[in-house]
Amino acid sequence: MLILGLQGSPRKKGNTNYLLSTFMTAAEKFGARTHVIDVTQKKIIPCKEYTVCEKKGYCPIEDDVKDEIYPLLREAELVVLATPIFFYNMTAQLKAVVDRCQTFWARKYKLKLKDPGANMRRGFLLAVGATKGKNLFEGLNLTTQYFFDAIWAKFGDSLTYRGIEGPKDMAAHTTVKKEVEEAVERLLTPFQGRKKVLFACRENACRSQMASAFAQFLAGDKIDVSNGGSEPAEKINPDMVKVMHEKGIDMAFRSPRSIEEAIANDTPELIITMGCGEQCPVVPGAKITDWDLPDPAGKSIDFMRDIRDEVEKKIVNLISEIK
Ligand SMILES: Cc1cc2nc3c(=O)[nH]c(=O)nc-3n(C[C@H](O)[C@H](O)[C@H](O)COP(=O)(O)O)c2cc1C
Repeated sequence: MLILGLQGSPRKKGNTNYLLSTFMTAAEKFGARTHVIDVTQKKIIPCKEYTVCEKKGYCPIEDDVKDEIYPLLREAELVVLATPIFFYNMTAQLKAVVDRCQTFWARKYKLKLKDPGANMRRGFLLAVGATKGKNLFEGLNLTTQYFFDAIWAKFGDSLTYRGIEGPKDMAAHTTVKKEVEEAVERLLTPFQGRKKVLFACRENACRSQMASAFAQFLAGDKIDVSNGGSEPAEKINPDMVKVMHEKGIDMAFRSPRSIEEAIANDTPELIITMGCGEQCPVVPGAKITDWDLPDPAGKSIDFMRDIRDEVEKKIVNLISEIK
């Protein structure tokens, strides 16, 4: 599983960095793959309110949000927001990322598309502030709640610390490490012991993308899903995206990847190939099943629809066998 951390403090060796790295170290011990983005070091252009996202579902601004952060937010199963309190909310750098996620909000509420990860993703908040008032985290909690809703993450948990001001205050806290470890265990236990399934086809542009999206969407956090191709294409197939949108499933921000890349971090227990013949991957210890589906690339859109429906049926069966 992938855990994405968004680090919002401009102080390099400060409290937020300490909190988030303690969280990620504990998560790695649990077998998770972690990725931290220090948003203060990225090229992030604040939302310009062009409202293209609300009409067309994408943001025309070219920066690291578009190239790096959007795809990772879609891939992550757990998103951790980490920030100091600056005037009763998150830092401006992190808020700029949140505002750019209006694109996700628009795809969800205007275009009525569902993220395949909708039923599995969780959101978690880590925050620190110098003062001790009752309302210290209220503004931040509200912003975080609506951010997690836009990115299809269930927000039920947080760790927030008052009276933390000097850069080493958090590290000197006597119970923080234990509290972070307990939170990680709470969050990651439901993801333990899931069957790891890799969907593979030649280009990773149509069949294995559809299978992976249906499996994620329909099985929620019950299956650990990945996908790859023996000869990955440059981008996913636009007709495939279209026919999945007809089913309300959002395929945005996904790109083909190689089978090697897909298995680099985790070995699947089951590999489902889509009919790739001799190019089928061999992974020691993994069972291989071939669904023998014809490649819809370059065929009519109706053919793509037929393959989509066939894939969906097979995924429903697979889930009932695995559960
Ligand atoms: C611009 C700015 C605004 C701040 N606003 C607040 C605030 O509203 N309430 C508060 O309790 N602390 C506030 N602080 C203090 C920080 O939240 C606190 O020092 C925190 O520990 C910094 O965490 P860091 O080391 O991760 O950057 C503010 C600090 C700065 C620089």
